[in-house]
Amino acid sequence: MPRSPLIARTVPALRRSLDALRKRKATVALVPTMGALHDGHMSLVRLARRRASRVVVSIFVNPTQFAPTEDFGAYPRTWNADIAKLAAEDVDLVWHPTVEAMYPDGFATRIVPEGPALAGLEDRFRPHFFGGVATVVGKLFTQCRPDVAIFGEKDFQQLRVVTQMAGDLDLGIKVVGSRTVRERDGLAMSSRNVYLSAEERQRAATLYRAMKESAGRIRAGEAIGPVMADGARMIEKAGFALDYFEARHAETLAPVTSRKDGPLRILVAARLGTTRLIDNIAV
Ligand code: PAF
Repeated sequence: MPRSPLIARTVPALRRSLDALRKRKATVALVPTMGALHDGHMSLVRLARRRASRVVVSIFVNPTQFAPTEDFGAYPRTWNADIAKLAAEDVDLVWHPTVEAMYPDGFATRIVPEGPALAGLEDRFRPHFFGGVATVVGKLFTQCRPDVAIFGEKDFQQLRVVTQMAGDLDLGIKVVGSRTVRERDGLAMSSRNVYLSAEERQRAATLYRAMKESAGRIRAGEAIGPVMADGARMIEKAGFALDYFEARHAETLAPVTSRKDGPLRILVAARLGTTRLIDNIAV
């Protein structure tokens, strides 16, 4: 029978648990999550297990990365199922702070990321998002002091922002990206996929098909502009409202005009009904 992980809900309890875990020169990997764990998260946990002797998973639905119009209240919360999944992977500790523990009365400090956070992708549509993410991840890093932190490549701009922040602030934490886990038809796993109706779910994999087709054509030497325009049309024809469908430099996220400007990454964000999906692949 799997052993339930330790659960800490306050900073002093977290410190005590981490001190105990760190005995005998253990190394610690942190997997930051907002819960509603699916197979994509579990692949992050398994990578964490390979990278360190102790695995800490944080579960915190961070209010500061949601705009008032977004789904903070409706965001799926599946605590019992999450803990059962983490127990099955032998996770050592779950950091599950209350909002008050994370942002106590009088909290007045924020991290304001630049560089990849201002690439004109997610930040164009969710201007509040990376400030909220950088501040909470900065706190998770200083609270847990991991050797390694694992983030999904699915949120590719977030991965670039967090990597930049850990380097800029000399945190001494290695940020590792983990490959996106996909459903059989190519749809990237996401906690928000539960919002899709059965009919929308059928159409949702068009995002992956459009990225794959465009990446193949760019690799074959076709010009980026027309290829990306065709991909955008394919997505809109499937009924999505497109926020962006772009090829960018895979590290700086700067715009590119030719394959020679690369390594390249194709990134997409689009809404199907009320559900906003994001995804990306390497070219
Ligand atoms: O990717 C997520 O789940 C969140 O943005 C993160 C990194 C846990 C910060 O709240």
